[in-house]
Amino acid sequence: MRDKQDLFNLKGKVAIVTGGASGIGKATAAILAQHGANIVIADIDIESAKKTAKEIGELGVKAIPISCNVLRDEDLVNLVETTVNELGGIHILINNAGGGGGGKENPFSTSLDNIRRDYEFNVFSGWRLCQLVVPHMQEAGYGSIVFTTSMSSINKSPNMSGYGGSKAAVNHTVANLAQDFGPVVRINAVGPGATRTEALESVLTPEIEEKMLAHTPIKRLGKVEDIAGAMLYFAAPISEWVSGQTLFVNGGGVQTLD
Ligand SMILES: NC(=O)c1ccc[n+]([C@@H]2O[C@H](COP(=O)([O-])OP(=O)(O)OC[C@H]3O[C@@H](n4cnc5c(N)ncnc54)[C@H](O)[C@@H]3O)[C@@H](O)[C@H]2O)c1
Repeated sequence: MRDKQDLFNLKGKVAIVTGGASGIGKATAAILAQHGANIVIADIDIESAKKTAKEIGELGVKAIPISCNVLRDEDLVNLVETTVNELGGIHILINNAGGGGGGKENPFSTSLDNIRRDYEFNVFSGWRLCQLVVPHMQEAGYGSIVFTTSMSSINKSPNMSGYGGSKAAVNHTVANLAQDFGPVVRINAVGPGATRTEALESVLTPEIEEKMLAHTPIKRLGKVEDIAGAMLYFAAPISEWVSGQTLFVNGGGVQTLD
């Protein structure tokens, strides 16, 4: 039997969290730090990243902010180089920065550039970071990558083709990369349902929330900590035989914006 102390132990591991300054990324950075990981907060908003890294550092681990727009290749290369130089390696990557125009993607008024950006943001940036970090994980002998996908990857909704399509691509990209990255590196995805973050609050109305709860057996919307718990499961040794999977964390239901 494995020692229960080891199952969630991340002491000495180094984790990069993109979009780590706020929302789901910040909660994920915090729970990984609570389990001993040193953390890189990689975010386009460097002032928030600095603030979050300071808070996380108070948990007794090393936490550094790195300015990173995941849409810029030079930023991704710099993120990996700086992490290795400052923290000595990389064991965990949370590919969390993402988003797009979900709910506003009327195919007759949006542009192909907007749809292309969804794929750049949700799929290509994370794929490229995998390419950059996996050699370091192999060298370290431990690697776990987790993407933040979305329930929109399996829902069918109007005005969602770019965001939903790109998140669906995340799920299948993860399933395929798992074939390439074993045996040392595992890769999985967490698919949040509607989770209270700045991004969600900007589109949520009381009417939409009521409709969401009508289709949610656990009668509340998600908290960032709900999603972070699933991230921890995939990042930690407890899931050492789990790869290529997508886990939806959604109160058992479906919450859509329409
Ligand atoms: N909140 C939800 O209900 C929900 C549901 C499903 C999926 N998601 C997914 O969860 C992830 C995180 O979303 P959230 O709701 O926590 O968002 P959020 O807006 O609360 O936080 C996003 C963070 O990413 C940073 N960021 C934005 N653009 C960036 C870029 N180009 N490069 C680096 N950092 C960038 C922001 O500064 C911010 O700190 C996204 O991939 C999103 O698609 C969220």
